[in-house]
Amino acid sequence: MSAPSRRLMLLGLVAALVALATFGTFALYGNIADRKAEAKLPNFNLAKLTETTVDAAEWGKNFPRQFDSYKRTTEKYSTKYGGAGSEGMPKSRLEEDPRLKQIFDGYAFAIDFNLRQGHAYMLDDQRITKRVTERPQSGACLHCHASNIVAYRQAGLDAGAPGKAEEPFDSVHARAQLMKGFENIGKMSYAEATKLVTHPVSCIDCHDPASMALRVTRPGFLNGIVALAKSDAPTPHLPSIEKWRRGDRQQPYEPNRDASRQELRSMVCGQCHVEYYCGSKMTLTFPWERGLKVEQIEETWNQTQFPDGHRFFDWKHAKTGAEVLKAQHPEFEMWSQGIHARSGVSCADCHMPYVREGAMKVSSHHVRSPLLDVSRSCQTCHRFPEEELLARVMVIQDRTRALMNRAEDALTQLIEDIEAKKKAGLSDDTLVPIFELQRKAQWRVDFVNAENSMGFHAPQEAARILGEAIDYSRQGQVALERIKQ
Ligand code: HEC
Ligand code: HEC
Ligand code: HEC
Ligand code: HEC
Ligand code: HEC
Repeated sequence: MSAPSRRLMLLGLVAALVALATFGTFALYGNIADRKAEAKLPNFNLAKLTETTVDAAEWGKNFPRQFDSYKRTTEKYSTKYGGAGSEGMPKSRLEEDPRLKQIFDGYAFAIDFNLRQGHAYMLDDQRITKRVTERPQSGACLHCHASNIVAYRQAGLDAGAPGKAEEPFDSVHARAQLMKGFENIGKMSYAEATKLVTHPVSCIDCHDPASMALRVTRPGFLNGIVALAKSDAPTPHLPSIEKWRRGDRQQPYEPNRDASRQELRSMVCGQCHVEYYCGSKMTLTFPWERGLKVEQIEETWNQTQFPDGHRFFDWKHAKTGAEVLKAQHPEFEMWSQGIHARSGVSCADCHMPYVREGAMKVSSHHVRSPLLDVSRSCQTCHRFPEEELLARVMVIQDRTRALMNRAEDALTQLIEDIEAKKKAGLSDDTLVPIFELQRKAQWRVDFVNAENSMGFHAPQEAARILGEAIDYSRQGQVALERIKQ
């Protein structure tokens, strides 16, 4: 018998003695204990869940409460800055803020860009956006818009990866299947790839079917977090990374092994609510090798080269010709810079609060704005009246919006000035330093605009970024004036 199991036996013996001695007490509390156990294990075990059970309804047979709330992500709502409105189609971000058309000129985002809505819509909304129907897109888009790990693993198997589809997700075979399939589906056209999936994000994407433990399954995240761990960027909000760094580093950081449950309560969201590159020129990438801050990600993009040797860019601005960057929903990154992350508060704490149902405490899977449920989302920690908490959020969001208005005005003015100088005959060569300033300003305005909390996830960081954006745009205008014609 090995040493650990001998120790376990001994522990078991001691526990049994203690239990006997306190039998009376146990009997008294028996009923309570039963109910607690029920609360802990609300598993009805009606359906056999495996690594190939994609359909949330199957999981719902065992976990009806979570499934019921998950289904409610079909419900539309709006708050002052959140949600997508209650009626009909999602509202257009371009109509809401026409400056964005000028800012994104020449890019697919200038033709169709809507407010997000609930998880239930993620696959349908992607299939119908003009960014997909009017522009060629790759299968990599599916990474965050479908339940796709079964499809990834199957595609991996089809391409010769070892093992079987039923093997546990944490096995070496499963990882090889996943990564191979991710690579291959990413190379398909969107039209071809989307036929391989049927459901929006599902239980299997965040839960182990055998134990229901939280897990991360997205290849982009698994690769990105390894890169972040290897960097020397401080991650006080992800202590398991700092712990891994202090170790021997023989094996790469592995969130499903190393991260705490509390960290996973944010990481499951960080699988998708992040900045990324997703196009035909290289594999889907989360740019975290220098850290999660706006300038660290910018530097990572600046140091990235496409296979043809060209410096990374998202698109060439139609009017100025500058090669610029587009930020996408960096919620995980912005949250990382805020006081809540630093205090150990996870995405799920606010967006998936506990709801009491009888003896059970169930995590609401109706993921939505926490402002619609302040008592469960905020007042568990903050002992202020609801109106006061809402007012505090509003102050942060209104200030962010006002500063962002200035930053967008400054950027559109820079764009107009460059256009005018080009018309007056200035060559692109002369304009290179100005293009660089447009790139910096654009990246920063967009980092806050594409982030969906209107500053709330990290108010001071959002203000710092917008301050820099304004500065770079104005520097660009000043420099333009100084160019001798
Ligand atoms: C301390 C609470 C808190 C934490 C932690 C938190 N959020 Fe939020 N989040 C908010 C609030 C408040 C808003 C603003 C909602 C609104 O304007 O209606 C918001 C907005 C959002 C939105 C837009 C919601 C909408 O209704 O349109 C998304 C998406 C989001 N958060 C994702 C995340 C992710 C991902 C994480 C973790 C990386 C996270 N949040 C962490 C409180 C939080
Ligand atoms: C598989 C990718 C994926 C994961 C994982 C994911 N999200 Fe989302 N989330 C999306 C997409 C895509 C949308 C937008 C769907 C649309 O507009 O059709 C979205 C929308 C949202 C919204 C807006 C809801 C609304 O009704 O307006 C919130 C809030 C949100 N997510 C928070 C979270 C939180 C918190 C987590 C982690 C518990 C999380 N998401 C995990 C992809 C994901
Ligand atoms: C790394 C994850 C990720 C990838 C990859 C991704 N998305 Fe999304 N997408 C999201 C999240 C999260 C949201 C919700 C937040 C938001 O709307 O800002 C979203 C929202 C959307 C929406 C609804 C709002 C809008 O922008 O109109 C559309 C449409 C969309 N994505 C299309 C695409 C297309 C097309 C691709 C491939 C080029 C793609 N997505 C790739 C995560 C991703
Ligand atoms: C985007 C990720 C995500 C998806 C998708 C998801 N869950 Fe969860 N789930 C969570 C998080 C986060 C928790 C909180 C876990 C914790 O604190 O340990 C949770 C908790 C649970 C629990 C434990 C009890 C509880 O309520 O806290 C069960 C059971 C569960 N989910 C079932 C489901 C089922 C069934 C589905 C599909 C209908 C599903 N989940 C989809 C993220 C997810
Ligand atoms: C799990 C606990 C927890 C939850 C849930 C939580 N907070 Fe906090 N919040 C904190 C902590 C900790 C701080 C840091 C200040 C402190 O230590 O008191 C903080 C700080 C704040 C601040 C000051 C922000 C700043 O940048 O200085 C605001 C505003 C706030 N919270 C609002 C909210 C709102 C609104 C919600 C719900 C959407 C919420 N919080 C949910 C724990 C929490």
